[in-house]
Amino acid sequence: MVGTLGAMASTEPTLFDQVVNLCKRRSFVFPSAEIYGGFRSTYDYGPLGVLMLRNVKDAWWRSMVQLRSDVVGLDAAILSPPKVWEASGHLDNFSDPLVDCTSCKTRHRQDQLDDPDTCPSCGESGTFTEARAFNLMFKTQAGPVEGAGADVYLRPETAQGTFINFKNIIETSRKKPPFGIAQIGKSFRNEITPGNFVFRTREFEQMELEFFVPPDEADSWYEYWMNERYQWYLDLGISADQLRLRAHDDDELSHYSSGTSDVEFLFPWGWGELEGIANRGDFDLTQHAEHSGQKLEYFDQGTGERYVPHCIEPAAGATRSMMAFLMAAYDEEQVNDDTRTVLRLHPRLAPYKVAVLPLSKKDTLLPKAEEVLHSLQPHFMCDYDITQAIGKRYRRQDEIGTPYCVTIDFDTLEDNAVTVRERDSMEQQRIPVANLVAYLNEQLAL
Ligand code: GAP
Repeated sequence: MVGTLGAMASTEPTLFDQVVNLCKRRSFVFPSAEIYGGFRSTYDYGPLGVLMLRNVKDAWWRSMVQLRSDVVGLDAAILSPPKVWEASGHLDNFSDPLVDCTSCKTRHRQDQLDDPDTCPSCGESGTFTEARAFNLMFKTQAGPVEGAGADVYLRPETAQGTFINFKNIIETSRKKPPFGIAQIGKSFRNEITPGNFVFRTREFEQMELEFFVPPDEADSWYEYWMNERYQWYLDLGISADQLRLRAHDDDELSHYSSGTSDVEFLFPWGWGELEGIANRGDFDLTQHAEHSGQKLEYFDQGTGERYVPHCIEPAAGATRSMMAFLMAAYDEEQVNDDTRTVLRLHPRLAPYKVAVLPLSKKDTLLPKAEEVLHSLQPHFMCDYDITQAIGKRYRRQDEIGTPYCVTIDFDTLEDNAVTVRERDSMEQQRIPVANLVAYLNEQLAL
């Protein structure tokens, strides 16, 4: 039985509460600076969270870069000068409309109010100021001298680092359109209403592809990437009834986009965006060409063909996707008289692939268990747990999504075989130690 969706008037914990509690209890995600009372919707990724987040990013990189010959990678700087954000339109357009309540002094996003005339904090009507645009970029200073010339911005998206490297990459990588540049990294937005755990934070990680195409191929590549990206979440275990593709209405489109569709996940509070696939046209390259005075175009020396490629951009959130994968995987089921919590994570995303569990802490078993552990560690991320009864240890691994447990018992010392238990079915098999790596590789199919 999975907890109820959403914050109903019930004492039963919601799925949201269950996942947030699990994240804290099992060291996936901690509130940042907790010993100082926490810090404004920022979060730290603990021992299991860092493994899982890395797995989400690796799965994206594998599908977007490793398995393709038309995409290369990039890791651009986080700090960038105002000129970049002038050209991209972020200095003028990347803002939310804010209103202040003159009665209770609270501040709200106008576009998120149920009733644009009534303050949700104090209930008064007609107390809002005129809306003003609040730019979401974090500004700081570079170098020892303060002043306008020292202003820099923390990037609010990785994409612009890619556009300003287009010339470098097209000149050095021997790629021609259609080809893409993939980037994973931190972005920063001074969100007015962060919340829902790691769904909306001020510091988060993105996974963005800028895919450059001949202008007349833009529509077909847009379709292609929508389907690819939707399928990626399905392949990693989110079920079709929790996932949808939704095209933006015209009034939702960003200033650069002629078409955007979101991959959305059914969060406990409703549908929420995991990723946007946008047809950005030639907006970005043209803007940066104008502002930098550099030619940002494709020129085919053989045919003499010259054009500004159009860009199709699948832009996903790594931290937000990790939360969706956790919510989709969380399950509770009745096993005999016990409630088993199990994270049915895809093996590629599970923090540990294998747990090595000696049946007892006796000196006779530990050397063999360590030998098995050391034989697995070069191949898989492993946990090693020797405390408490074996049943409890299985449950601990179920709860963090470990697909396989390998138990070393006293028979192992005689037959050099181990018991392998699968997380979802809880079925057990006896496997010779000599075949263990091959067996697990086949089962995990990473
Ligand atoms: N370059 C286009 C771009 O940045 P976006 O829709 O603003 O598009 C892409 O961001 C993805 O980044 C979103 O779909 C979401 O998954 C993630 N994201 C954006 N803002 C976020 C925030 N404040 N906290 C967590 N994830 C965020």
